[in-house]
Amino acid sequence: MLDALSPGEVVLSKAALLIDQTGMIVERAESGTSQFDQLLRHHDTTWHDERSILMPGLVDLHIHAPQWPQLGTALDRPLEQWLKNYTFPLEERYNDIAFARGVYEELVPALLAQGTTTALYFATIHEKSSLELARSCLKYGQRGFVGLVAMDDSILCPETYRYSEPEAAISATRRFIDAVRQLPGNEGGLVQPVITPRFIPACSETLLRGLGDLACETDVRVQTHASESDWEHDYVKDRFRCTDVEALEAFGLLRRHTVLAHAGFTSADDRKRIRKHHAAIAHCPISNAFFAGAILPIRHLLDEGTACGLGTDISGGYSPSILENARQAVVAARMLTSGVNPDLLQQKRGSQGMAIDFTEAFWLATRGGAEALGVPVGQLRPGMMFDALKLDPRVSMLFPSEEDNAEETVQKIICHAGIHSIACVWVNGRIVSGRYN
Ligand code: GUN
Ligand code: FE
Repeated sequence: MLDALSPGEVVLSKAALLIDQTGMIVERAESGTSQFDQLLRHHDTTWHDERSILMPGLVDLHIHAPQWPQLGTALDRPLEQWLKNYTFPLEERYNDIAFARGVYEELVPALLAQGTTTALYFATIHEKSSLELARSCLKYGQRGFVGLVAMDDSILCPETYRYSEPEAAISATRRFIDAVRQLPGNEGGLVQPVITPRFIPACSETLLRGLGDLACETDVRVQTHASESDWEHDYVKDRFRCTDVEALEAFGLLRRHTVLAHAGFTSADDRKRIRKHHAAIAHCPISNAFFAGAILPIRHLLDEGTACGLGTDISGGYSPSILENARQAVVAARMLTSGVNPDLLQQKRGSQGMAIDFTEAFWLATRGGAEALGVPVGQLRPGMMFDALKLDPRVSMLFPSEEDNAEETVQKIICHAGIHSIACVWVNGRIVSGRYN
């Protein structure tokens, strides 16, 4: 059994878990103790990984569900052109509920098979089809946070894919919050609505302020993009004479568990504000390689205690796998440290001390994302819900020769695990993908 207690502290041990009717872990006992033997007598409610490795489920802290059909394509343009030429036209098609249902019914099981037990989704501006995404999460048993996208700016957004008035977007968001909460089968709150201004450039001031007020009134979580690229960061600076984070704070959108996607151009002062409001950053290293033009200094975030996790940012990111993004987070941070231009002298090439290691990436992929959202998952410990995945013991390359070395095991898993080595996935103690045996 493998989990991370803090960014640098992973624990690998043989243990048994007792899980209650609601799917919560109520007891954990290490092998060799009398409590362990006792737990194993409750066969039906105990999990014990004799041969394989059990680890916490993965958290995707930023993903655009409607962009699934575009995964692995359309990566040849900068952000602003990519939105206009590819992404807005695709998202507009979700006006058709049947099309939306078809995509979301495919997406949610595909993510569960990748080990993504919790996902923070952007849907589209369409209420009914965005509700289909919430329904798919419920049907397949994924912990889903679903946002109806709000955008009304007539310069940036096409006429056929935006709200014509800010009030319409605000009242649609209000209806969407109620509709998600009232979905049949959602009595336990497995799926939650999220207030989702797409990003500042796509929203009027009235809309941003209205959504901030709605967040304050309903206490619903907020997500948006912030300081993603030079273009986006400068756009906000020109418009408001301040950074994205300062503007979001002024509109009341920087709140506990607000998740800011990308945020690579945030300053130390911005991140201080993020911490002050108990908000978080979704690090999307693959997407950033295509659209950001810079690498988020995740080392600083970990050192200063800014809440953060990992996002696939489908389809700005081409991979649906959080493990693949964890791998890329390590690679990107190393490149930031070393620098990449061989024409420069070594001393001038990089920003030293910016690397992160595999255990930190593992924490980001699991508990980091869970803390950002404020959900009791991400560790296999009493008090947490049993969201977990089991690695296939037949994939021997995942298991180091030194069986009890936690750091090596984590490194193997981050470097090599993926859909083909995930044997079984649980959410709330229920199998949602794969087979137990
Ligand atoms: N900024 C506004 N919309 C988007 C989007 O769909 N993807 C990314 N990566 N950035 C955005
Ligand atoms: Fe995004």
